[in-house]
Amino acid sequence: MELSYILNELGEDRELYFNAVAPPILQTSNFAARSVADLRHMLQHEPEAHLYTRGNNPTVTILEKKIAALEGAEHAIAFGSGIAAVSAAVLSQVNTGDHVVCVKKPYTWTNTLMKRFLPRFGVEVTMVDGTDPENYRNAIKLNTRLLYLESPNSYTFELQDIAAVVAIAKEHNCKTIIDNSFASPVNQNPIAFGVDLVVHSCTKYIGGHSDTMGGIVCGSRETINRIFEREYMTLGAILSPHDAWLLIRGLRTLPVRMERIAASTSKVVDFLVKHPKVEKVHFPLLSSHPQYNLAQKQLRNNTGQFSVLLKTENIKKVEAFCDRLQHFLMAASWGGHESLIYPIAASYTDHGLKPTLPFNLVRFYIGLEDPEYLIRDIEQALEEI
Ligand SMILES: Cc1ncc(COP(=O)(O)O)c(C=O)c1O
Repeated sequence: MELSYILNELGEDRELYFNAVAPPILQTSNFAARSVADLRHMLQHEPEAHLYTRGNNPTVTILEKKIAALEGAEHAIAFGSGIAAVSAAVLSQVNTGDHVVCVKKPYTWTNTLMKRFLPRFGVEVTMVDGTDPENYRNAIKLNTRLLYLESPNSYTFELQDIAAVVAIAKEHNCKTIIDNSFASPVNQNPIAFGVDLVVHSCTKYIGGHSDTMGGIVCGSRETINRIFEREYMTLGAILSPHDAWLLIRGLRTLPVRMERIAASTSKVVDFLVKHPKVEKVHFPLLSSHPQYNLAQKQLRNNTGQFSVLLKTENIKKVEAFCDRLQHFLMAASWGGHESLIYPIAASYTDHGLKPTLPFNLVRFYIGLEDPEYLIRDIEQALEEI
């Protein structure tokens, strides 16, 4: 299916809504049946029917159809946040007594799900360094049901070899789930590598404007319908029609934004790798990166996130660098129009847990601004180091 068709036409039955170019926000909690027979039919086919908005809503359905097509999946189901989508996908694959192998250092709340939440329900989790697929194989036990990936990985952007991990999963009769938020559905399609379920935080690139939250799970019709009937309907973490509408609007410009972000990020990374005050740039699409070949195989283009190790032993200098940036907002998340930094130094306190990442690591996200404008800003802030 062509990208232009998916983004502009698929799922939009405009004749049903006065040929309006933008879809309506169907802000309704429920839908009336015309007769008892009609209601009976709706009840029997709820995964497809419009009966109640906690199940299906036509505005949300448009979004689901488009993202499923972008990922090459049969079907998709939208949630109110990325982590709701991650949690529902994972919970749909495990029962008490099962074991999960998960990539080390996933997104913070995925980490909490794996380390603190699943064990409460008798699900055991092993975290592995995902840069070598054999680590997944070596962690598999008789009760392993699920291999979980996030590629590129949070903060340091290591990749997992998706096809190799899928092959290991199939040998051992395990399912695979990948969080594909970092790449976006434009730059990486894991279903083509055989992954069972692909998850996105739509809050990031898909929304693209830092003004809405959402999540989605893509997979086979059978698996998605099973999630609908169990995790989706009981946990109720649905996406509102208004947020779905904002995410559809975000999708219209997704490829254009990703192209601009990729080009700008290359320029900023080029500047940083040559800078004497930068020790290292974590960015898999650098030709010097140990996983460069794999990155080229899996990713169509680079994205806007990378992290930088500043050349200093002094946390105060890292703080001064971050505080001096004028055109980067200091914030969590990423994927919007605005460039951001997220300094690990903020997690260092005089008391409490010691973070596993170094204090001189700063995560960057490059937005839609002129890259030269951003480079000038970084250049002047690096004077603090
Ligand atoms: C890789 C990744 N997955 C999932 C999430 C969770 O998404 P949300 O904040 O939409 O719940 C995030 C959020 O930062 C993320 O970075």
